[in-house]
Amino acid sequence: MLKNQIAKSNNGIERSKYITFGIPAEGGITEARPRLERVEADVMGNFKRLGVPSEPMDGRARLALLHSQMHPGSREAFRFSWKDIPQTGLGTKDFIAPPDSLDFRQSRTFRIGQYWGAVSYLQIMASELSDKLLAEILELDAEMTVTMHIQTVDQLKAIKTIKGKISDIGKMKVEEQRKAVRSGYDPDILPPDLITFSKDAAELLADLQSRNERMFLLTFTVVNLAPPTRQRLENDVFTVGGIAQKYNCALRRLDWQQEQGFVSSLALGYNEVEIQRGMTTSSTAIFIPFMTRELRMAGGQALYYGMNALSHNVIMADRKKLKSANGMYLGSTGSGKSFAAKRELLNVFLTIPQDRIIVVDPMGEYAPLVRRLGGQVIEIAPRTARTTSIRWMWSSIWPPEKARFP
Ligand SMILES: Nc1ncnc2c1ncn2[C@@H]1O[C@H](COP(=O)(O)OP(=O)(O)OP(=O)(O)O)[C@@H](O)[C@H]1O
Ligand SMILES: [Mg+2]
Repeated sequence: MLKNQIAKSNNGIERSKYITFGIPAEGGITEARPRLERVEADVMGNFKRLGVPSEPMDGRARLALLHSQMHPGSREAFRFSWKDIPQTGLGTKDFIAPPDSLDFRQSRTFRIGQYWGAVSYLQIMASELSDKLLAEILELDAEMTVTMHIQTVDQLKAIKTIKGKISDIGKMKVEEQRKAVRSGYDPDILPPDLITFSKDAAELLADLQSRNERMFLLTFTVVNLAPPTRQRLENDVFTVGGIAQKYNCALRRLDWQQEQGFVSSLALGYNEVEIQRGMTTSSTAIFIPFMTRELRMAGGQALYYGMNALSHNVIMADRKKLKSANGMYLGSTGSGKSFAAKRELLNVFLTIPQDRIIVVDPMGEYAPLVRRLGGQVIEIAPRTARTTSIRWMWSSIWPPEKARFP
């Protein structure tokens, strides 16, 4: 049932989010390392404030990620340890290289082993964007890598560029007015595009100068991958394109730049696609893909607790690993509290046989289930012989030295 649930929810696709950051450093790695560590602490601190758990990746984890990007759909595990390098004489690249071929001979698609792939970029035409755009793309039941390269622009340079643009627009306005006078119509009538651009540019300048906004250059690429058939790939790309269109953007294929696009999608922070769009802090911030918090604890004792309503991912948790193992079911009448509690009980019964399950149940609601599972039901009523047997019951459950009763 669970496998079915996982398959139904997201087509069995798991989503992972990675951030790669880089800084320019002329002095080499010795200069870069302390600065990178500071950036890392800063980024992780901000995530913590957002309530998003994050963890740094070491060299091996980064290689494993590159390996998985190079081996789509492969069940082959990543086998690597640093001591393999001197022993085999191979480099790290040899361990992540695809076993089959990479074929970039076509203009609009590429092949990686058995898989078909296509790299597209998002052309953002809207001046205002919705945060739903990224969320919807990430919700698709398709295998893909969404990459955003965000490059900061020096504040002074950005302001200077925009001022330059504003004076260009001013010049165009004067020209239009001169033309109007010459042809004998009202010089106040300007082309509507010119009016919008001039307003947008003035707003952008005000944002940068007084609202503590910064300028970024964004490259947004989507790599779609699909197993054997090319038709499936084209369908997936079409679906992503539909979402982009809904939000006033366009998804365009990187013609003859499939290889550059694929390289840029690897988690290396390396961008070979020269298509960028200037964005302010607030318009870039909507691309932060942390709308939902996933709960999937690893380990054999993690139990199924339902589905995340936003991300449609399965929730697996192991109470015993939490700070406090206590829990509570809250809900209105008939919302399924008892059902959920019984399901958890059954899950514990089936997956962790060594656990003891004790139900204190004034309504006798759980008795049939307990009987079906071969458990013991003890009825306790006030002032009966049974009351005296409580002490006996508890001491049979817990070793006497641990039991404390009034
Ligand atoms: N996940 C589920 N799938 C299918 N049916 C469910 C599910 N959860 C609950 N139900 C059904 O909904 C009904 C009400 O559930 P349940 O008795 O668990 O609610 P409750 O919150 O305990 O109600 P009350 O507050 O009255 O105790 C039951 O018939 C149960 O079988
Ligand atoms: Mg109930």
